[in-house]
Amino acid sequence: MFRLQLLSALFILLFSLSPVSANFDYFQLVLTWPASFCYPKNFCKRKSNNFTIHGLWPENKHFRLEFCTGDKYSRFKEDNIINVLERHWIQMRFDEKYASTKQPLWEHEYNRHGICCKNLYDQEAYFLLAIRLKDKLDLLTTLRTHGITPGTKHTFGEIQKAIKTVTNNKDPDLKCVENIKGVKELNEIGICFNPAADSFHDCRHSKTCDETDSTQTLFRR
Ligand SMILES: *[C@@H]1O[C@H](CO)[C@@H](O)[C@H](O)[C@H]1NC(C)=O
Repeated sequence: MFRLQLLSALFILLFSLSPVSANFDYFQLVLTWPASFCYPKNFCKRKSNNFTIHGLWPENKHFRLEFCTGDKYSRFKEDNIINVLERHWIQMRFDEKYASTKQPLWEHEYNRHGICCKNLYDQEAYFLLAIRLKDKLDLLTTLRTHGITPGTKHTFGEIQKAIKTVTNNKDPDLKCVENIKGVKELNEIGICFNPAADSFHDCRHSKTCDETDSTQTLFRR
């Protein structure tokens, strides 16, 4: 009897929360730095001198949601949205013609991550949200303002501090790669937002960079 009451209380609670509640704690907008991602040179068919979107990932405190059930990616057909996406979410590993018709990166990202927030954002809303969030930030300028320009090296702390000036002091996730043995370089920057995407949120650290003050991270030119 008590169990039944508990169960119905739970149902009432769930239903009263349902239309606005998210099944994840925050979004991570992952921005790629092309010079590092595309190293060595033959990896990318196209390049950019600015940060470009890798993905927008719904995450929970301890793990990332992935491969949720739901309708799979359906290719965009309208030139308008394709052109906007091509400017901000560049599929650098593919030439322009192949990229804009087959849309391999967008498909991969939507099927792996985007479906996991379909309760709040349908496919088009998901892609437009990623672009809107990216456009809130001009990380290249933010870094430059703090003396962090392509071709220079800085500590993890210096880079993190610079980014936190534009995230309401919330932690980004700096992601590094070691393209050259022993040299950590900044490959991506994750910026986190609450599910409604109207405020910043701390990101979990991927711990791919060396966070100690005694080493320097390269911001590749
Ligand atoms: C780089 O991208 C940001 C965000 O989309 C944009 O505001 C900025 O103008 C771009 N900078 C350059 C030099 O293209």
